[in-house]
Amino acid sequence: MTEPVKNEERKKVIFSAIQPSGTITLGNYLGALKNWIELQDNFNCIYALADLHTITVRQDPPTFRRHTLEAYALLLACGVDPKKSVFFIQSHVPTHAQLAWILDCYSQFGELQRMTQFKDKAAKHPDNVNAGLLTYPPLMAADILLYQADLVPVGVDQKQHLELTRTIAERFNGIYGQTFTVPDGYIPKQGAKIMSLQDPTRKMSKSDENANASIAVLDKPEDIMRKFKRAVTDSEACVRYGEGKDGVNNLMGIYACVTGKTNEEIEAEFDGKGYGDFKSAVGEAVAEHLRPIRERYEDYMKNRDYLEQCWGEGAEKACSISSRTLRKAMKKIGFLPPKSI
Ligand code: AMP
Ligand code: TRP
Repeated sequence: MTEPVKNEERKKVIFSAIQPSGTITLGNYLGALKNWIELQDNFNCIYALADLHTITVRQDPPTFRRHTLEAYALLLACGVDPKKSVFFIQSHVPTHAQLAWILDCYSQFGELQRMTQFKDKAAKHPDNVNAGLLTYPPLMAADILLYQADLVPVGVDQKQHLELTRTIAERFNGIYGQTFTVPDGYIPKQGAKIMSLQDPTRKMSKSDENANASIAVLDKPEDIMRKFKRAVTDSEACVRYGEGKDGVNNLMGIYACVTGKTNEEIEAEFDGKGYGDFKSAVGEAVAEHLRPIRERYEDYMKNRDYLEQCWGEGAEKACSISSRTLRKAMKKIGFLPPKSI
């Protein structure tokens, strides 16, 4: 995994996507979105809502539509800027499904079956182990490879899929010659894995049944405060980073992300103070950090025309860039082109 390096001559291409599958959590925000925003100034960024990935788990149509609309507005509110970046909805750009089919044919059944996420989701939804759950990674590879992305910012849980993307790209390039850029992952130092507030050995997840375990980006300040006050810690009553202190480590990580403070600074700030003070401070800092996002979100949700214009323009740009890669890959494989170019 490499750090992004600024390159004055050719800006590196960043691609990332997030599923519009429900509540966007503080884990998504600190593990992924906050980095998306920061990267926009120095890189050529392309971001998507991966709605095709979402239907690997059965969705209720009106809820799915609403989640996609809300996620688009929320990402704009978080700071994804359509003037700086390309920001689109995956299902609006047909090249993704087209290249995904092609890449399915360059992915091995065994390697797809070994993916941790496939095994987890198959166990969680035994009544719907559909083929899309298995071929989820080649679709993700298509997302990335269509834009010749150099770097892919994701949380640690997506590392295995990214490695498979590299394998597929290298395999294709090995057969046909250089076609796809082989991307590197970019995993942020802080916030790469935000843990549940109720069980800090598990990651914070939008699907957690315990409502106190995760913070939604759109949670009200009073709910944020309450959830942090109830966060599981330990009996040492000392704010320090260390082994066996998963709860405190997680809270320190969150506090560091939203305040920019180091662990040493945080330890000094709470020296001699109890967990009550510490949890309130983390809650307040998070609530303050998220307040303007919630306000902007409400404005965007009142302006459907603007949202449609943004995703329309995003899809057009994404189509134009990705069609070039798709044509190139299809030509190499030997598909007869519709007209000679
Ligand atoms: P998902 O919620 O699985 O659609 O993930 C969307 C993005 O957020 C991915 O880049 C994940 O790696 C990241 N992410 C999800 N949950 C967490 C978490 N608890 N901590 C850090 N990153 C996360
Ligand atoms: N699979 C990712 C997740 O659930 C979302 C995703 C789809 C993605 N396509 C991508 C992430 C391409 C990075 C790059 O989090």
